Amino acid sequence: MEIFHISAECYPMAKVGGLADVVGALPKYQTNAGHKVRVVVPCYSTKFRKENDFECVHWGSVKLGNFDFPFSVLKETTNKLGYELYLIEINELFDRPNVYGYEDDIERFLAFQIASLDWILMREDVPNIINCHDHHTGLIPFLVKYAYKYEKLRSIRTVITIHNGLYQGWFGFDKIHYLPEFDLIHVGFLEWNNSLNSLAVGIKCAHAVTTVSPSYLNEINIAANGLETLFNSVRNKSKGILNGIDFEVWDPSKDQMLAHNYSIDTFEIGKQKNKEKLCEEFELDPTKPLFSFIGRLFEEKGGDLLPQASALALSENFENINILILGSGNSVIEEQLVQLRNDYKGNYNVFIGYNEELAHLIYAGSDYILMPSRVEPCGLNQMYALRYGTVPIVRRTGGLRDTVIDFGDNGNGICHDQASVGDICYSINRAVRLYEDKLNFNKIIKIGMATDHSWERVCQEYIEIYNLIIEKNEV
Ligand code: GLC
Repeated sequence: MEIFHISAECYPMAKVGGLADVVGALPKYQTNAGHKVRVVVPCYSTKFRKENDFECVHWGSVKLGNFDFPFSVLKETTNKLGYELYLIEINELFDRPNVYGYEDDIERFLAFQIASLDWILMREDVPNIINCHDHHTGLIPFLVKYAYKYEKLRSIRTVITIHNGLYQGWFGFDKIHYLPEFDLIHVGFLEWNNSLNSLAVGIKCAHAVTTVSPSYLNEINIAANGLETLFNSVRNKSKGILNGIDFEVWDPSKDQMLAHNYSIDTFEIGKQKNKEKLCEEFELDPTKPLFSFIGRLFEEKGGDLLPQASALALSENFENINILILGSGNSVIEEQLVQLRNDYKGNYNVFIGYNEELAHLIYAGSDYILMPSRVEPCGLNQMYALRYGTVPIVRRTGGLRDTVIDFGDNGNGICHDQASVGDICYSINRAVRLYEDKLNFNKIIKIGMATDHSWERVCQEYIEIYNLIIEKNEV
């Protein structure tokens, strides 16, 4: 089967969050399973772009209203990723350091989608599947079905995978003339709540909709930032598929970024050595349990609860624990977390920013990982943590509900129900007591390390959906 993944992020080319990890891994496993898989992302000026070789395989020009954007398609030539990676180079729009956050994001991703389809149109082979990811590529299912100029692509089946339904990429009808021409009879597909909503368009027009966990699919039928009724109406073409993780990249026995490698048989000594390195670097106490948080500091992730929860947990248990935070996001939260350093020196530290290498070391050297998310469509950090023998402490929501079971129910972690400071601290207290019960603690670590969240197992579920929509052959 010929599959295109079109996405705003793909690790290692460009990463902001978990979307990049998924789009950087799933294609590799689909390729291993015998499919021809290509990934298309915008050409940002990232380290990966600068340090790798590319060849130009196509060029053209995208018209958005009165503006013309010349573009080229660059193919990564070393082929070390396990799938073919293509970059859409539109210098005026993407030769910038960040992936998102510009005033013209709508124009940027619209041009990206059109350029991707223009190029696919010029290719000899028409793919069977285009798998779109999130709202940045939500217009593709519409364009493939209805834009006059993509008539030749009508046989392609499209899937939209929702990694985060909170962000929807909506814009005013004043920009509708940016879209390639189509019969206005179809304009209703573009509209949601009086505006053009890219995610809603993708959900309406794609042949299948997937979410990144089964629980998240249930949740967005109740709360989806205004799209609840839409999700309800497409249930018969929707499926929740739990993400996997790349077991080759995330393997504590081989991971080059660790101070010490270890396996399920040697985790006690291995984790302690990584913890010592981490504690030395961040002036923490390696004899005490280490609780860490890795991620974006936003309300969605419960980031706003962290300053208060940390302060409370450290003051109640001052002798007992360390807390380490790696992340960036909301500047108020960042500021509060930095402030805490003064009060809890020796037991608390924070690194504001994003650092892949440090993240690996934290998974290896921590005892617990905190995930107090309000919304978590899947969450990958708990899976990385489990693989590295770090016990996840999670709020039961979305994919966290599907992957972490409380140790009281013979599970692999610690769970609570409310996104509140009280619930986080209650879990931290349970964790401190568990840490002292070494026999049980180690048993839970082993359960976690033995869990199989590899893509190898999961990627087949995507292929089944693709096969289903190809067989159905619906317009
Ligand atoms: C988004 C979601 C996260 C999910 C990731 C990959 O970042 O917030 O829960 O794990 O996408 O699908």
